[in-house]
Amino acid sequence: MSTYRIASIPGDGIGVDVTAEARQVLDRAGEVHGFRLEWTEFDWSCERYTKTGRMMPEDGIDQLRPFDGILLGAVGFPGVPDHVSLWGLLIPIRRAFAQYVNLRPVRLLPGTTSVLAGREADELEMVIVRENTEGEYSQIGGRHNPGQPGEFAVQESVFTRVGVERIIRFAFELARTRSGRVCSATKSNGIIHTMPFWDEVFAEVAAEYPDVHNEQTHIDALAARMVQHPDRLDVVVGSNLFGDILSDLAAAVTGGLGMAPSGNVNPPGEYPSMFEAVHGSAPDIAGQGIANPVAQILAGAMMLEHLGEKTAAAAVHKAVEEVLAAGSVATPDLGGKSTTTELGAAITDALA
Ligand code: NAD
Ligand code: IPM
Ligand code: MN
Repeated sequence: MSTYRIASIPGDGIGVDVTAEARQVLDRAGEVHGFRLEWTEFDWSCERYTKTGRMMPEDGIDQLRPFDGILLGAVGFPGVPDHVSLWGLLIPIRRAFAQYVNLRPVRLLPGTTSVLAGREADELEMVIVRENTEGEYSQIGGRHNPGQPGEFAVQESVFTRVGVERIIRFAFELARTRSGRVCSATKSNGIIHTMPFWDEVFAEVAAEYPDVHNEQTHIDALAARMVQHPDRLDVVVGSNLFGDILSDLAAAVTGGLGMAPSGNVNPPGEYPSMFEAVHGSAPDIAGQGIANPVAQILAGAMMLEHLGEKTAAAAVHKAVEEVLAAGSVATPDLGGKSTTTELGAAITDALA
């Protein structure tokens, strides 16, 4: 029987609740499909920061290195500035482990309250391939003339050829296994250095994939298209910030943030990959026990798939779909009255 060593970092707010449900579902999947998950839990969070002044220990990255996978809840909570908590945990992990692909699959699930509810599921199945280690997320820049009338802030973006090329290539390879279509999110009409460079690399890589349909759309128009004509999109590749924004948008049109999973993937498998929901710690509903655990459970399914447990991953998907389609157990974001644990338990039971 295979055993996988998994690091669990529940983090903050609803991250803690939804990670507990995901663990339960994944453990059941292991029982049914013949593998074992050996969990190690880390209390790295804003609470830890308040007590110790660090989100994770100094050797945190080294502690994570030997794991087969990482399941992360969410990071960030009022009381600790977001740039401190996120640059103290989530972003360093993505970078240290070269998790340069942030894979965010989007499907129309049953039981959703979305603007597109009622459409056929196969009308809307796309995946956002988000660049995850560079771009607009940089530490270069600064604040100048504080408190003066001429105060200003500068934030630099860094796009390397290696970084842009590998994410675009990943998108084309992925498209070959799906519909054979890639759309690039750009903004080369307004952003005059980085985005024309992105477009140039996109065109170069596209030329190597004559069998894959390629197009590019300005991010603003793409946002509108994602709402009105999402059925004409499949693999959408974007920079770190564009991919971030598009993934919440795509989640919203397919059923809300409670349903959208994500994987921070190191494609060579040289370092552990990390799986998490697209959503954050949701301080507005934290502590109420009403967060939708589906996004985190589906992130767990992505982790199983990544570990090679494809049958188990598919079974988790099926269990989620069955429970959502039945509709009797649903959290408030889905129009129901159930709790996080009730929905998690229903999905766990559906796996048996
Ligand atoms: P958020 O995703 O936490 O919440 C946005 C809205 O969606 C809220 O109204 C929330 O209640 C709702 N929502 C989110 N997940 C839900 C779920 N599972 N079930 C039901 N409703 C859900 O975004 P935010 O408010 O911008 O961020 C809150 C904190 O989380 C911030 O500190 C932010 O930096 C952090 N954050 C962390 C991650 C991460 O760790 N990967 C991701 C996004 C945001
Ligand atoms: C996400 C989040 C993070 C990001 C934040 C919390 C830094 O929004 O994972 O989508 O922008 O990458
Ligand atoms: Mn985001």
